[in-house]
Amino acid sequence: MKKNNPTKHPMNESTQEFLKELTLILGQRYVITDEIDQASYLTDWRKKYTGLALAVVLPKSTQQVSDIVKICQKYQISMVPQGGNTSMVGGAVPNQSGQQILISLKLMNRIIELDQANQTMTVEGGCILQVAQEMAQSKGFLFPLSLGSEGSCTLGGNLATNAGGTNVLRYGNAREQCLGLEVVNAQGQVINSLRSLRKDNTGYDLRHLFIGSEGTLGIITQAIFKLFPLPKTQWTALVSLDSIPKAIELLRICQQMGSGLLSGFEMMTRESLSLIELHFKQFKNPMAGDPNLIVLIELSDQESEAHARQIFENILEHALESNTITDAIVAENLTQVNHFWQMRDHITLAQAMEGGNIKHDITLPLSSMTHFITQTDAMLKKEFPGLRVINFGHLGDGNLHYNMSPPIGADFSEFVNNYESRISEIVYAQVDKYKGSISAEHGIGQSKAGVLKAHRGEQAYETMLSIKKALDPHNLMNPDRVVLVG
Ligand code: FAD
Ligand code: MLT
Ligand code: ZN
Repeated sequence: MKKNNPTKHPMNESTQEFLKELTLILGQRYVITDEIDQASYLTDWRKKYTGLALAVVLPKSTQQVSDIVKICQKYQISMVPQGGNTSMVGGAVPNQSGQQILISLKLMNRIIELDQANQTMTVEGGCILQVAQEMAQSKGFLFPLSLGSEGSCTLGGNLATNAGGTNVLRYGNAREQCLGLEVVNAQGQVINSLRSLRKDNTGYDLRHLFIGSEGTLGIITQAIFKLFPLPKTQWTALVSLDSIPKAIELLRICQQMGSGLLSGFEMMTRESLSLIELHFKQFKNPMAGDPNLIVLIELSDQESEAHARQIFENILEHALESNTITDAIVAENLTQVNHFWQMRDHITLAQAMEGGNIKHDITLPLSSMTHFITQTDAMLKKEFPGLRVINFGHLGDGNLHYNMSPPIGADFSEFVNNYESRISEIVYAQVDKYKGSISAEHGIGQSKAGVLKAHRGEQAYETMLSIKKALDPHNLMNPDRVVLVG
């Protein structure tokens, strides 16, 4: 755990001039310097990192973002962009120097256009994901990006982290859903790549450079997303299984028999479900017999309800007959569908209520998943008796949230201070052994910046550093996140 008691230093003349210039551009109200008013911006969602800021600034337009960045360049002040502050890797809060500013996009939250003919939506970077989903739905479209944090995360943040979530299987991650971007670069210039084209091979695709760059190369001020037809019908079920190999077999069955309709495949272990039950009584595990695993399956269809139901029933029948699954509960109405999904989404909250956890957001080839889990579970439990492995996630994408809770009764902070790095070392060595990734969807932020080089390889890391140095030569855009300069 990081030390959480930073203190502010007195301001010099140059800093006072800097704040004056910001105030001139934004107005007093939008340059927050009072520590109490700043507080909610300075601690991350997991309450793992707390920083300090010279100011929290709230621009209302791309022009203002550009002006802020130019002023920061003039005074050589570094900047931390923030959207909904739901980062799982401490990417959106400043460091403890008190010499950075935090740029919150929360007032740049408009939906600018929904183009029905082109099936696209243009939004500002601070637009809340759920607001975009609801707008799309009201016009008969699907905005498929979907995460547990959708009520507060922003589309700029989603692109900056290349967010994944529960619909990646069918619609891809944030990167795949984005057609165009407007970005303010580290010099304060506006790069307008707001193109709503499905094909566009005009040189390097700058959009992909900024997506997933976690605010280290520029600030995403607007974006254009693809929309999709709203499914006519959705079928959701919880199924119980004995083991991970069975879950992988079930995925294969769903993909082979599902006619491309599979839109969700979420795995929850018994330990994850027990934790939800402990903290949220309304989410009692509905499956009989205390199964090892539960998978939430969802099929979405543009055709008739009968078409989807037939496919769904065939899958479940085959899975039961082949002993791939032991039981299934099909959601009978929308309330039950929502209940199943909420149960899944509450694992993260239950873990937070339990006192936090050591997170590993990893991907593995499905072919290695069983070996990885069996071996790594055993290694961890041998070295740390009583350690609770809370394993769940987007199994359809090979993405596990392979999180650890301390043994029951252990002091959380003490346990994390003493053992987090060793536990993560074991997990990441195993991830490397099985050719996986140490960050599937949450990004690198500050949590993993120190270990990225070791896991991405020297050459890939050096290439990333060259890009960072070329685009942000003074290292002012979210420094010490993702790649470490100098
Ligand atoms: P922030 O947390 O504010 O910022 C994240 C990073 O992006 C920071 O580095 C920040 O500097 C940068 N940034 C923010 N806005 C901009 C911008 N406009 N321009 C440039 N850089 C910017 N993530 C998943 O991928 N899948 C999940 O299923 C998922 N589930 C979650 C469930 C819960 C309950 C919570 C709390 C988080 C979950 N997350 C998940 C993590 C998080 O919600 C995502 O990373 C999300 O994309 C972050 O969006 P945000 O607006 O909150 O960004
Ligand atoms: C989720 O899928 O619920 C979040 O990404 C996971 C987490 O809490 O690690
Ligand atoms: Zn996730």
